[in-house]
Amino acid sequence: MTKIGLFDSGVGGLSVWRAVARALPQSDLVYFADQKYCPYGLRSQQEIRALAARITKFLVEQNCRVIVVACNTASAAALYFLRQQFPAITFIGMEPAVKPAARATRSGKIAVLATRGTLEGELFHHTRDEFARHVQALTVYPTDWVERVERGDIDSPETYASVRRVIEPLLDAGVDEIALGCTHYPFLAPAMENIAAGRASILDPSDAVAKQTARIVAESALPPTRNATLTYYTSGNVAEFGRVLEKLLGPQAAEIAFSPI
Ligand code: DGL
Repeated sequence: MTKIGLFDSGVGGLSVWRAVARALPQSDLVYFADQKYCPYGLRSQQEIRALAARITKFLVEQNCRVIVVACNTASAAALYFLRQQFPAITFIGMEPAVKPAARATRSGKIAVLATRGTLEGELFHHTRDEFARHVQALTVYPTDWVERVERGDIDSPETYASVRRVIEPLLDAGVDEIALGCTHYPFLAPAMENIAAGRASILDPSDAVAKQTARIVAESALPPTRNATLTYYTSGNVAEFGRVLEKLLGPQAAEIAFSPI
């Protein structure tokens, strides 16, 4: 039975998982959270490639034939490498929604929020040069957001204050489109939307990635899956993953296992 695999450094990719599960409600999904090595944002490209290859091998062993790299940092560092190393697998990657932000802006100023790894990567520079040359693109690397989402701390006053510290200066600078370039950040979108209300839109690429995944699955000759089994693996702590999963997505009738890799 063919399955769809998704992976991230931690729980962030669940924002993409949620969109894929909505778009393909009958599919078998396997999610891998590499929490032992989270965050990826400060790791070298070489290190991220090795981690991504190891996870891909594991997902292929679980019968995944389509894999969503539900992490912008891993997509920037490893997507081309993974496509070369695993030619039989279809990979779908993430990148910040620079193109829709550059199209939609009226003020001519957009912001891209992502990890340092993504913002310093070649892929981002290429996308920015190709689609956002005519606008001013401010880039911000919010230092503590990934850790907050990993703890499930998405609605405390401290988190709200941290979101405000990042968003307000962007609004004051005239930014009217804010592209999320890290899959952890959509879990902070309610706080961002509250702060930016009426002044800027928040762009999350998850639905576009889910649509693309659904199209690829429909076009491929993969045997259809009808079980809708949902399995999660973490290389970190299973109980803690379960607690945060429930906090982020609500109660899940799903199996969570410790990853043997
Ligand atoms: N969620 C990941 C991303 O989309 C990165 C978080 C991390 O630094 O591990 O970039």
